[in-house]
Amino acid sequence: MAKRLRMLMRMGNLTRTGQVGDGREEALADYVLSHAAPGDVDDVIRVIDTYAYQQATLINVGDEKGLLLDAAVRRAKPRLLLELGTYCGYSALRMARVMPPEARLCSVELNAANASVAQRIWDHAGLGDQVRVLHGTLGDDGRTIERLVTEHGFGAGRLDFVFVDHIAQAYLPDLQRILDQRWLHPGSIVLADNMKVPGAPRYRAYLREREGTEWRTREHRTHVEYQSWVKDLVLESEYLPSGAAASGGTGPAPA
Ligand SMILES: C[S@@+](CC[C@H](N)C(=O)[O-])C[C@H]1O[C@@H](n2cnc3c(N)ncnc32)[C@H](O)[C@@H]1O
Repeated sequence: MAKRLRMLMRMGNLTRTGQVGDGREEALADYVLSHAAPGDVDDVIRVIDTYAYQQATLINVGDEKGLLLDAAVRRAKPRLLLELGTYCGYSALRMARVMPPEARLCSVELNAANASVAQRIWDHAGLGDQVRVLHGTLGDDGRTIERLVTEHGFGAGRLDFVFVDHIAQAYLPDLQRILDQRWLHPGSIVLADNMKVPGAPRYRAYLREREGTEWRTREHRTHVEYQSWVKDLVLESEYLPSGAAASGGTGPAPA
């Protein structure tokens, strides 16, 4: 508990930079390279969880919420996936492990150092070109969106699965950007982490207002990563056919 309290005291740094601020993310990559079997995704995931429990807490989705992520990806059987918030690449490893072999995952990360930590870890795990990290954000005046379209095959109705796990204030604006691009299709799944801690109330309210018309959402009760005393929520939302008809910027103005 003391470790987690120390990390909470560093939350300002985390929110500003995307790193805890004591070098633990780079240290994680070194740890994985020296402790996990090369080319073994299961072992890399195991070693990251061990590091987070024993060495330094990480803001990965973690092992408990990771099971919800695995199950949602399995149900969706996606061909094209988008992640917002790569961090050290842990959730991308989990998605890559359960997505169909022909699927492709693009993960967008604001912090260049995190993107390079994730790439080192993925290279060690042997992920190859199934998973790509893009340094940027969906809110960077169209630059990252343009790269997703021109370099990664994003287009109308092509996106099957989105994992939203970056920064609470950007959840709704970035969902709106995805809708504006018309990338989703009926049945696309959007999974959002950290819906209780720290919470994204405007995103949750947006989905609630459209429940049964544009979206159908299941709220999964769970816990904040790597401990069992603070509760969290993961939202799993299916984009509905009527939503597809109304897509393209129909929601409220982004926060
Ligand atoms: C909670 S961590 C992601 C954890 C990761 N999905 C996992 O489970 O392994 C959030 C990450 O989002 C990044 N981030 C913050 N704002 C962002 C934005 N607007 N776009 C993309 N990434 C962002 C941070 O730098 C940080 O690496």
